Amino acid sequence: MNNIVPHTFHVDREDRNMQNEHTSFVVWFTGLSGSGKSTLANMVERELFESGIHTFSLDGDNVRGGLNNNLGFSREDRKENLRRIAEVAKLFVNSGSVVIASFISPLASDRTFVKEIIGKEDFIEIFINTPLEICEKRDVKGLYKKARAGEIKNFTGIDAPYEAPGSPELEVKTNLEEAEASVKRIVEYLKSKLEIT
Ligand code: PPS
Repeated sequence: MNNIVPHTFHVDREDRNMQNEHTSFVVWFTGLSGSGKSTLANMVERELFESGIHTFSLDGDNVRGGLNNNLGFSREDRKENLRRIAEVAKLFVNSGSVVIASFISPLASDRTFVKEIIGKEDFIEIFINTPLEICEKRDVKGLYKKARAGEIKNFTGIDAPYEAPGSPELEVKTNLEEAEASVKRIVEYLKSKLEIT
């Protein structure tokens, strides 16, 4: 970072948190494609939003379609995808928002990298643990079928790895719990972490 001198802003995160009357952090949903990450993340955001919490969602739709539209699904590209997302998430945390991020983020090392960028005190990991067989059976986007037919390469769970988190803050088994119950559990946990003034 040659010749880059950080600027001290007159309004900082603490000021924003005080004005918003709550703290800010990142809630990171990880899981296979079709595991239910985005569905649950959306429901969680709605609940928080309706409680007056400042939220912002980051997921494939608003990131891979724009900022990261030059990236694919090789190991290197996934890492760069997640690095940029982590940097953006950090900016939103500084802006006072609770960031709801939903990305497959398949490698433990990449999730550690993301956590280091964001700061471990601002990072809550939620593992959407839906077995591959179920994700594949759902095949909402028809991508598993294409991956099995060899039409998509490096598809997570088929010919690219997914490493389950060892100690997520929360784990959701979507095949064993109704979405509403999972959302309630997640929201209660997040509110216990949010310092609301
Ligand atoms: S990653 O691994 O974290 O960089 O992936 P992410 O940015 O979350 O993007 C996942 C969505 O991209 C679609 N897609 C693929 N997923 C996995 N592997 C391959 N090769 C692939 N190609 C396209 C897929 O629709 C994922 O969306 P979700 O919402 O997870 O189903």
